[in-house]
Amino acid sequence: MTEALKERRPLIERYRDRLPLAADAPVVTLMEGSTPLVHAPRLSERLAIETHLKFEGMNPTGSFKDRGMTVAVSQAKANGAEAIICASTGNTAASAAAYAARAGVRGAVIVPEGKIAQGKLAQAVIHGARVVALRGNFDQALELVKQLVERQPVELVNSINPYRIEGQKTAAFEVCDELGAAPDALAIPVGNAGNITAWWKGFCEYGQGRPRLYGFQAEGAAPIVLGRPVERPETVASAIRIGNPARWAEALQALDEAGGAVEAVSDDEILDAQRWLASNEGVFCEPASAACVAGVLKRPPEGAMLVCVLTGHGLKDPDAALRAAPPVIPCDPELAEVERAVLG
Ligand code: F0G
Repeated sequence: MTEALKERRPLIERYRDRLPLAADAPVVTLMEGSTPLVHAPRLSERLAIETHLKFEGMNPTGSFKDRGMTVAVSQAKANGAEAIICASTGNTAASAAAYAARAGVRGAVIVPEGKIAQGKLAQAVIHGARVVALRGNFDQALELVKQLVERQPVELVNSINPYRIEGQKTAAFEVCDELGAAPDALAIPVGNAGNITAWWKGFCEYGQGRPRLYGFQAEGAAPIVLGRPVERPETVASAIRIGNPARWAEALQALDEAGGAVEAVSDDEILDAQRWLASNEGVFCEPASAACVAGVLKRPPEGAMLVCVLTGHGLKDPDAALRAAPPVIPCDPELAEVERAVLG
């Protein structure tokens, strides 16, 4: 094996001594993790704090879910599981479908009908998962899946599965390794609250310092901000359209230990932030991810260094991007016309 190849190792091999995986567990990997930490000069200037983007959309299926899925599915294989299942707003479904295919087990995903982004649906389908469109929301889907796994020999791979958290905590390790220490502040979108829980666990375990945590929810789906479940959550950021987060208590504990805050941002603020980031930093994330950028634009955190967690790739949800975009310019195939169209 060349040196270059040795550098590119599966997340589980890079951090095996920090993961509670059975020693003989097979490694089910798509070479997840090692995502870029992108310095954001224009955002830094606007916020008056050095800002970096942890672009988790660069994982194999385009979201941070792959970090948790490699560990959860490897452990499921070690347990002898033949099938895995999850409820999802889209990204967990895409990731579970891909890792199920990789592991050679059956995958089933339950998603809210008509409420997941096209790219995510395409992924779940092409990887061969059984895709169930529930006439209900994510919270109902998760409740039903929890009951189903009590009755059937199927492994649950939602973030209530502890191995998902274990995998996702490695993102904090990578940021500490790259910056030499934890940043002063971490901004992160919050849906089911698994990821904020995982990042905090990662910082606490790694011993390189702890950031203040700033969690952001969409205004129409902000149970933690409101302090009560939201029965009919609604937001353009479909990934975080969640009214009753499974890891609510852990998120509150993390926020309490870290200092910081959890706040809500509107759909307009989310789409503005998504477009601003794409056109000023060249980084295209999905609306849920842009929620954390929208949040820090409203109220920049104090300190010397900020990391924003961009949880998913913008290509996941082309409809949302086009919704906020200026119109394209129609043009006849003649030079003068093209010139006029290009120069405006
Ligand atoms: N960002 C994206 C792109 C997500 O897909 C999710 C969650 C979150 C943020 C929030 O993370 O739930 O750990 O607080 N997506 C889940 C799913 C719910 O089913 O794909 P969280």
